[in-house]
Amino acid sequence: MEGPAVLIEQIEVENSSPSGGVISIWTLNRPDKLNALNSESHLLIKENCKLAEENPNIRCIIIKGSKPTETSQNKKQKPVSFAAGADISEFSEKKSSDVRPFFEDNAWEAVWNLSKPTIAMIDGFALGGGLELALSCDIRIASTRSTFGQPEINLGLIPGGGGSQRLCRLIGYGKAMEIILSGRMISANESFEMGIINKLVEPEKLEPTSIGLAKEISSKSPYTIKVAKKAVRFALEMPFSKGIESERNAFISLFDTKDKEIGIKSYFERTNPEWIGE
Ligand code: COA
Repeated sequence: MEGPAVLIEQIEVENSSPSGGVISIWTLNRPDKLNALNSESHLLIKENCKLAEENPNIRCIIIKGSKPTETSQNKKQKPVSFAAGADISEFSEKKSSDVRPFFEDNAWEAVWNLSKPTIAMIDGFALGGGLELALSCDIRIASTRSTFGQPEINLGLIPGGGGSQRLCRLIGYGKAMEIILSGRMISANESFEMGIINKLVEPEKLEPTSIGLAKEISSKSPYTIKVAKKAVRFALEMPFSKGIESERNAFISLFDTKDKEIGIKSYFERTNPEWIGE
C-alpha cells in the first residue's frame, strides 16, 4: 500500500463558466485493506472537504475506491472495492470514551455537510462505513459488480456514520431495517431496486457515466447549484410546510442574482449561459 489514504486529482471542466471549473476526484487509497476507512482516511477526507469549500473552482466532487493491486500467482487476488467499511482493526480493545471524539468529528458528516454536489462512484464492495460514505454523497452511481450492506450487526455493532438515519430517509423504514438488522450482502441489482443507488452501469461505463454527470452538474451556475442542494435538504431537515416555505424563499432570493438574468436571457437568445456565479 503506497501513498496517503486518500488521493486527490482534478479534471478540468471544459468551457466552464465562471472559467477554471474543475471536478475534484477523491480516491480512497488502501487497496490492500479494500479501502477500509481508517483514522487517516477520515482526517484526509475532512481536510479535502475544507479545501473544497474554500476553492471556488471546485464544482463537483466524486469519491471512489482505488483498484486492487495485482498480486503474485500464489497469493489471493483482492476484490474490487469502494470501501469495505470502517477499519475494524481500529475497533478492538477500544472503549466508548476512546472512540467518542473520533465519531463526533468524522468524515461522513464532513462530506454530508459540503455545500457542493457529491457523487459516490461505486465499484465493488460498499459495506458498513463504506456504504455510509456513499450515503453521505448526494448521488450514487454503481457498477453491476458492486455489493452493498451494513454488516456491523455481525460485529456486535450498529452503523455509526449516519447509516441508519440516511438509509431510512433514502429507502424507507422497512428496507433500512432489513438491511441493518440482517447485515446481509445486497447485490447491485437489489440495491438499485431498493433505491440505494441512482444508476447501475457495467464496470467499463462507471467512470464515463459518473464524470459525465459531474460535468453536466458543473455546467450550471455554481451559486444556483448550492441553493438547489440546500433546498432539497430542507425536505430532510424540516417539517413539510416549513420546507415548502423555505424552498419558496430560496427560489425568490434567486431573483436578485445575476445568474438568473443570464439564464433567462440565454434561453430566449438560444445561447449557452455564461454564468458568473452570483
Ligand atoms: N477493516 C479492516 N480491514 C479490512 C476490512 C475492514 N472493514 N475489510 C477488509 N479488510 C482487510 C482484510 O482484513 C484483509 O486484510 P489482510 O489481507 O491483511 O488479511 C483484506 O482487507 C482483504 O480482505 P479479505 O477479507 O481477505 O477479502 P475477501 O474477498 O475474502 O472478503 C469481504 C471480502 C468484504 C467480504 C471481507 O473483507 C469483509 O467481510 N470485510 C469486513 C466488512 C465489514 O464488516 N465492514 C463493516 C465494518 S464496521
